[in-house]
Amino acid sequence: MEPDDTTLQFDSNGRLRHLLSLKGLSSTLLSKLMDDAENYVSIPGVLPTRSNSLAGRTIGNLFFEPSTRTRASFDLAGRRLGADVLNLDVNTSSRKKGESILDTIYTLQAMQVDIMVVRDASGGVPAYIARNVQDHVSILNAGESDVSHPTQGLLDLLTIRQHNADFKNLAVAIVGDIQHSRVAMSVSEGLQTLGVGELRLISPPALAPDANRFPGAQIIDNIAAGLKDADVVMALRIQRERMGNLEGIPGIDEYFTNYGVSHENMKHAKPDAIVMHPGPMNRGIEIEGTLADGPRSVITKQVTNGVAVRMAVLNRIGKMMSGR
Ligand code: CP
Repeated sequence: MEPDDTTLQFDSNGRLRHLLSLKGLSSTLLSKLMDDAENYVSIPGVLPTRSNSLAGRTIGNLFFEPSTRTRASFDLAGRRLGADVLNLDVNTSSRKKGESILDTIYTLQAMQVDIMVVRDASGGVPAYIARNVQDHVSILNAGESDVSHPTQGLLDLLTIRQHNADFKNLAVAIVGDIQHSRVAMSVSEGLQTLGVGELRLISPPALAPDANRFPGAQIIDNIAAGLKDADVVMALRIQRERMGNLEGIPGIDEYFTNYGVSHENMKHAKPDAIVMHPGPMNRGIEIEGTLADGPRSVITKQVTNGVAVRMAVLNRIGKMMSGR
């Protein structure tokens, strides 16, 4: 994010126009978005909440990197709010013929796509698009390199709040490939804004982040110390797609023993600590399968909350558009 990108997120009346990052969002706004999302959380077997608040609006999903959860949940969220949803198949789009990303955006803009949900492997792309679209278009960042994944951060905050809303007294431990993780960035930004008690980032030295990117966090390379009395433990996948080589990273067995979120390592955390993972998971590497499926796990809750959070964000953007 460039320094002015946090202000780029708001319109001239201070309303959220683009969601590029959780940086720059106040604790009041984060809490309001979580409150709104609670109204959309669905219960298995009960028909999900629907409205027509986005009727007449069109959402374009532009995923220039693979996705299951984020793309499906933006699609469902948009439809449950009455919007038309366009899922651009990037692999068969004219991007493959050399069309620039802005020309693709301008093409959709001319078709009255109001909200564009963008995932890209390069840092800065969502903000670049946001600076170049017309006033009637909003950009939502659905995952940007290792920089930001704000709706994932929000759904993680909501899931933590459902477990324990007392952020100031929580110790949150994030374990795994912190260096390449946009999820770690976004959830850390949100947690710091909400005044989290302790934020611990645990990884082997080769996957440790630049401390300047995580002000206020403890960077730890020992899982026993990192998980000690933690309230929340989040496992992260090794992001091989963002690595040149695997130099310095332990082999799978050693990695699982020393950095895996396992039944054994969870003995260091509080007895009621929850286990989180943003997905996709690599069972037996960063997380033990039976732990991911067990009673301490809130991983499916995160997925359910993902639809609710995206509905809350889309609804807020829709209100901003109607208030113009
Ligand atoms: N957590 C997450 O972003 O998952 P997807 O890559 O499946 O969207």
